[in-house]
Amino acid sequence: MNNKNLPLLMNQSKKGRKAISLPEIGVEKSSLPNSKFLRDNIDLPEVGQLDLIRYFTNLSSMNFSIDTNFYPLGSCTMKYNPKINEQLSSIQGFANAHPNQKDENLQGCLEVMYDLQNELGEITGLPGVSLAPLAGAQGEYAGLLIAREFHKYNGNDHKKIALIPDSAHGTNPASASMAGLDAVTIKTTSEGDIDIDDLKSKVNQDTAVLMLTLPSTLGLFEPNIIEITEIIHDNGGLVYADGANLNALLGITKFGELGIDICHSNLHKTFSTPHGGGGPGAGPVMVTKNLESFLPYPHVKKEKNNYETYTPKNSIGRLNGFLGSFGIVLRAYAYIRSLGSQGLKEISENAIINANYIQEKLKSHYTLTSSRNCMHETVLSAIKQKENGIKALDIAKKLLDEGFHAPTMYFPLIVEEALMIEPTESESKETIDQFIECMIKISELSENNPNEILNAPINLPVERLDEALAARNPVLTWKK
Ligand SMILES: Cc1ncc(COP(=O)(O)O)c(C=O)c1O
Repeated sequence: MNNKNLPLLMNQSKKGRKAISLPEIGVEKSSLPNSKFLRDNIDLPEVGQLDLIRYFTNLSSMNFSIDTNFYPLGSCTMKYNPKINEQLSSIQGFANAHPNQKDENLQGCLEVMYDLQNELGEITGLPGVSLAPLAGAQGEYAGLLIAREFHKYNGNDHKKIALIPDSAHGTNPASASMAGLDAVTIKTTSEGDIDIDDLKSKVNQDTAVLMLTLPSTLGLFEPNIIEITEIIHDNGGLVYADGANLNALLGITKFGELGIDICHSNLHKTFSTPHGGGGPGAGPVMVTKNLESFLPYPHVKKEKNNYETYTPKNSIGRLNGFLGSFGIVLRAYAYIRSLGSQGLKEISENAIINANYIQEKLKSHYTLTSSRNCMHETVLSAIKQKENGIKALDIAKKLLDEGFHAPTMYFPLIVEEALMIEPTESESKETIDQFIECMIKISELSENNPNEILNAPINLPVERLDEALAARNPVLTWKK
């Protein structure tokens, strides 16, 4: 069936038809407790079981996912989620653990958490690890609260400025503001690096933290990182690295060795736990030894072969209920353990090679934002195509029609008509070549037949939406 023509379940409804029939009950009927909660005016579809199954099976195939399509959504690391991680996370002892169980009955879960704390400490070079944050942005918030508490503890409550480059991820200034810090923007040079002169002119004794995204949202490694961390430390500040995109750095460098004091990482990106469309995530925060006592609750320690949760001495407190996103932590742990240190390094190397291959092949068709090699993602601009009336959004719609998920668009904000492409290490050369061919075809179409792009998508269940209207006035339920 062409999904586009999937009939609405409501339209297949026939009065009295049922998807299931139950045997007569063998006990006395009793009336429902409170009839005021019963409604008889709900129009529910009445369909047979096969129609019901076909409807939902077809509906489930209408979405893009990493298991169905190439998904180069920049900064989101939509890599393959190995199925063994799912199997391991459904082992009964883990899957049935109850959040209210006491530590002594949760030794297996706590051991996994303890080991993952250590693995992440080793990977980032920052040994104090908390798995508590439930998302990357919450990891940022936790890390910045740690920085604030650290300064307060040392009698430096006046340190309230967060220096944030304009190439940082959008959540960075938002998290700084939530943590009670005032964000001050640092400029980026035309090559995409932090403008050191601008940094020097803005850093002072009120600087609490420099928060940079590494690699930056331009997909670039910061070449002056050592000099930058020294400038901040000389002014009594701390350096925070947004390590959501750690997929570029595994086994290649460690934040701790670059002079970074705090970072977070998104398990639901680099460590291959399912994401997209919401759902649970985890954004562990990692700190240097001298910041460890500020970590959130729960932290897991090992005492005489027993694993225990505890609250670190100067803890910023609790960020969520129970043990956080344990199912996600478990999948990430399985991923790290199944790859080992060599495997992790190869992941980053391949992610970088794939992104540079795309950059190299597309650089004469689209506009590059930096002449340097990129890390795990490349940011192209569609300014050339815009001269023919084709914007980044149109290119994204055409890609959807051709069976590829769109790259991230209009981000980072400092790049006009940005297309941020992150292929990840998961993809074969053949898939990447098909994507490159498609991007080249779209660029050619923008000159020869722009209408074909402007009319896309035509093959998807939903054609072009009025996106502003859809966001402001979403119609989420069937209406007669
Ligand atoms: C660089 C960067 N920082 C932070 C975040 C925020 O992570 P989350 O969406 O889990 O809150 C993201 C998300 O994609 C990101 O790419």
